[in-house]
Amino acid sequence: MRFAQFLLKNGSLAGIPKQVERFSKFSPSPLSMKQFIDFGKCCRAMLPLFYIYNQLHKTSFVFLRQELPVRLANIMKEIDYLPDKLLGTPSVKLLTSWYSQSLMELIEFLEQDPDDKDVLKGFTKTLVNIRNRHNNVVPTMAQGVLEYKEAFGVDPVTNQNVQYFLDRFYMSRISTRMLMNQHTLIFDGSVNPAHPKHIGSIDPSCDVVEVVKDAYETSKMLCEQYYLTSPDMEIREVNSKSPGQPIHIVYVPSHLYHMLFELFKNAMRATVETHETSPALPPIKVRVALGHEDLTIKMSDRGGGVPLRKIERLFSYMYSTAPSPVHVDNSRNAPLAGFGYGLPISRLYAKYFQGDLQLYSMEGYGTAAVIYLKALSSESVERLPVFNKSALRHYQTATEADDWCMPSKEPKKLGNHERSR
Ligand SMILES: Nc1ncnc2c1ncn2[C@@H]1O[C@H](COP(=O)(O)OP(=O)(O)O)[C@@H](O)[C@H]1O
Ligand SMILES: [Mg+2]
Repeated sequence: MRFAQFLLKNGSLAGIPKQVERFSKFSPSPLSMKQFIDFGKCCRAMLPLFYIYNQLHKTSFVFLRQELPVRLANIMKEIDYLPDKLLGTPSVKLLTSWYSQSLMELIEFLEQDPDDKDVLKGFTKTLVNIRNRHNNVVPTMAQGVLEYKEAFGVDPVTNQNVQYFLDRFYMSRISTRMLMNQHTLIFDGSVNPAHPKHIGSIDPSCDVVEVVKDAYETSKMLCEQYYLTSPDMEIREVNSKSPGQPIHIVYVPSHLYHMLFELFKNAMRATVETHETSPALPPIKVRVALGHEDLTIKMSDRGGGVPLRKIERLFSYMYSTAPSPVHVDNSRNAPLAGFGYGLPISRLYAKYFQGDLQLYSMEGYGTAAVIYLKALSSESVERLPVFNKSALRHYQTATEADDWCMPSKEPKKLGNHERSR
């Protein structure tokens, strides 16, 4: 449905620009992993004390009915600064309509009474609806970028703007989903039977090596379906805080799994494809180290590597080698490589709680992918985009001459060979 038609059919959305203006004036409030679990644990402990539990439920509701519109409005402001031709694609119009609809639904709760139980119930329902409505944001946006690229090509300035925007847009999405998940999981009043210690989507004692093994096994299965073979894994952990003990961290296991799964798929594909004619596949080596500040996971493969010149591009949304993502969203036969968003989205998950993901490659040999996470839950604080003047400046970069000399092509033309003739 086109955005304009959508607005006409939904009179209530007419006030959107005003509301975006209103809520984008506030900065989002980042939460730390510690705040997430302290609050969640408190709710769990108070479950039998109905009155206090209810107070906590109201606190969360009152925070979210303001914070979610603030996060949505901040990123909606930036959508407006995308190139017009990208904004005009049917996919981006559809996306904008989802954001507008969700913003309006949330704002309606600002006038409602937190003491009314039905309001709290209705809010949870609304969060679930919003989460479902936004399920396909990533492939839909990718489709929009693809349509733009096919029609207008890619230039460095657009690439830079789109990269800047999408990193922030997807980060905002990760954060709002995190908030919505925590609220709905914690206040449905039950305990996850498979993981009774989890606080919503957070594992207060996440066994890192276990997640590495899980991600390896799933990726191995895919790899074998595809290539009929797969490399082994060698894993070592170094716990410098409590030597000899398994490494645990307060983290969202699904985020960690997502990153590792993407890295394993890449490492396996590269390994199998560069060793097609070898009698044996070199193993993928994983090392997990816990220090005082960082928890680091390094995954090394011998899949032939990538030249340095191309590394930055591997994280680019516009330069990805994407075929149509429509064919990708088929989980039954999930392919080993997708539409080139594996690395950039994984890096966002790492950055979301102040970590990072980097690739170090030796062309001709192999690649090491490194995930950095904060070792302490008090330092794992949400990293959130905020719309302000410096954000605006990023969208206003014009094409200017580079401030580094470009290597001249002339010496080649006037090479010895030519000159001697
Ligand atoms: N470990 C690796 N070794 C060699 N090439 C890699 C490795 N990891 C990533 N790449 C290259 O980076 C590209 C982008 O990776 P990714 O973002 O996961 O998207 P996709 O796997 O869907 O193509 C891959 O297609 C591949 O060419
Ligand atoms: Mg991949």
